[in-house]
Amino acid sequence: TTTRITVDPDFVVGPVRRRTFGSFVEHLGRCVYTGIYEPGHPTADEDGFRGDVLELVRELGVSTIRYPGGNFVSNYRWEDGVGPVEDRPRRLDLAWHSTEPNAFGLDEFMKWADKADVEPMMAINLGNRGIAEALDVLEYCNVVPGTALADQRVANGVKDPYRIKMWCLGNEMDGPWQVGHKTAEEYGRLAAEVGRAMRMVDSNLELVACGSSNTNMPTFGEWERIVLKETYDVVDFISAHVYYYEDEGDLGSFLASAVNMDDFIDGVVATADAVRTADRHEKRINISFDEWNVWYQQRVESKVPEGDDWPVAPRLLEDLYNVADAVVVGNLLISLLRHTDRVHSASLAQLVNVIAPIMTEPNGPAWKQTIFHPFALTSRYAQGEVLRVPLRTSTYETAKYGEVGVVDAVATHDVEAGEVAVFAVNRSMDSTTSIEVALHAFGEVSVIEAVELSNPDVKWHATIEDSTSVEPRPLDVKLVDGVLTADLPPVSWAMIRLS
Ligand code: AHR
Repeated sequence: TTTRITVDPDFVVGPVRRRTFGSFVEHLGRCVYTGIYEPGHPTADEDGFRGDVLELVRELGVSTIRYPGGNFVSNYRWEDGVGPVEDRPRRLDLAWHSTEPNAFGLDEFMKWADKADVEPMMAINLGNRGIAEALDVLEYCNVVPGTALADQRVANGVKDPYRIKMWCLGNEMDGPWQVGHKTAEEYGRLAAEVGRAMRMVDSNLELVACGSSNTNMPTFGEWERIVLKETYDVVDFISAHVYYYEDEGDLGSFLASAVNMDDFIDGVVATADAVRTADRHEKRINISFDEWNVWYQQRVESKVPEGDDWPVAPRLLEDLYNVADAVVVGNLLISLLRHTDRVHSASLAQLVNVIAPIMTEPNGPAWKQTIFHPFALTSRYAQGEVLRVPLRTSTYETAKYGEVGVVDAVATHDVEAGEVAVFAVNRSMDSTTSIEVALHAFGEVSVIEAVELSNPDVKWHATIEDSTSVEPRPLDVKLVDGVLTADLPPVSWAMIRLS
C-alpha cells in the first residue's frame, strides 16, 4: 500500500539547528592518535593533523565536537595535556585500559577544531575531580590574561581566551562503569555547585547536566528528575545517550530504533517539564543528545585490553557499518530533527575510527563508512525550518517496539532559498514501498535532486578496498499536480529536494 506524506510550510516544529549535526572526539582507541592526529602521515600538516581526515570532516558537515570524553574524562587531568609535549606524563586511561601519552591535549584540540571549523563542546571530569579543577580548566580556557592559569595558556602560545560556550558537567555519572559514578542526589548536588561556580567565572556558558546513559538504566526517569531538581537554575541542557544494534535475527526491531529514540526524547522532555511545573521555574531545559549511534557492544572490536596490557591507541570499537546501519542512522537523524523544539544539540558518537563514519589506516588512507552518507546529506540539505509531516503508512510488528510504521519521514523548508527537503526511510525488509508526497501548499515546485541509499545485501559494508560501491544514487521520482511519487527500495534511506 502507498504511504501518503503531506508537506506543508505551516507545520513548523522549529528551526533546523546546526548543533544537531555535532559529533564526538574521545581519547579512545584510534579516534585521536592515528585518527585526527598523526604526525608523519603523508597528509599531516605542521601540527600533525591528518589533512585527509580534515577534508572528510568538512564533507561530513559536523558542527559541534564534544571532547575529550566520554568515559575517558572521568579519570583525566586536563593539565597533563598542555605545555611542552616532552614534559607531559604518560597516564593510565582506566576507562579503556590503555596508556594515554598526552601528546594531544586541550590546545591541540582547539587548534584542530579551528581548522575543522567546528564548535568545541568541552566535558569536565566530575568522576574523580570537582569544583576546583573545573574552575581551573575554565580559567585556562576562557579568562583574559592576568591570572595564573590564563597566563599559562598565554605561555603555551594562545593569547586570546578560547571562550568555549558549551560545557558538559561530567559524563554518564549514573553508570557503574564510570570512574567515580554517583547517585542522582550526589551528582545533582555536585553538578549544581560546579555549575554555579563556573558561571561566576563566565556568565555566558551553556551547561549540560548528565542525564541517563540509556533508557535501560534502572534509574532512568528518576535520575533526570532528581538531577534537574538540584540543577534546574544552573544548567541549560540535560544530556541523553543511546546506542542501537541489531540483535541477531531481529532486523525489524533494529530498523525501528527511531521509535525508541522518539519515546526517549518525549520521556526526558516530560520529566524536565514536570520539574519546571512542580518547582515553578520559568525557563525550559532542552536536550543535548550528546552520544547517539549504532554500536555493536558485544562484538570483539569493543573488548578492552586486560591485565598488564596497557597499549597506546589500540584498535577499539572499530565497528564496520552495513547498509541497514546507515538506514537506521538516517532515521535517527529524522527523529532528532522532528524534535528540534527540544533537542537543541546532538553528537554522533564518534567521529573517527571509534564507532565512526570516518575510518583511517595509520600511514594509509582515510575512507567513508555507510553511515557517512545520510549524515553528510542531512547536514548539508536540512536547512531553515523543520516541518512535521503527517503520514499514513502501513505498519509491521516488531519484537521490541510493537507495531511501527513502515515509512518514517521529516521535511525541512528553507524559506529564503525557497527549497524543501524530504528525508524518508522505508523500513520494510522485503518490499518496495510507494510514497506519495503532497506538496500542494508550496504552489509550483520542481525537483532539484532525489537520491536513495540501499543495497539488495543489507549486510554490505564498506572496506578500505571498496568504500564506494554502495553510495547514494539517483531515485526515480515523478511530480504531477503537486504530488510527488517514488518507490523506496526495501531497507532504504532517501532524500528528495525541491524548489
Ligand atoms: O562512545 C563510547 C562510550 O559510550 C563513551 O565513552 C561513553 O560515554 C559511552 O558509554
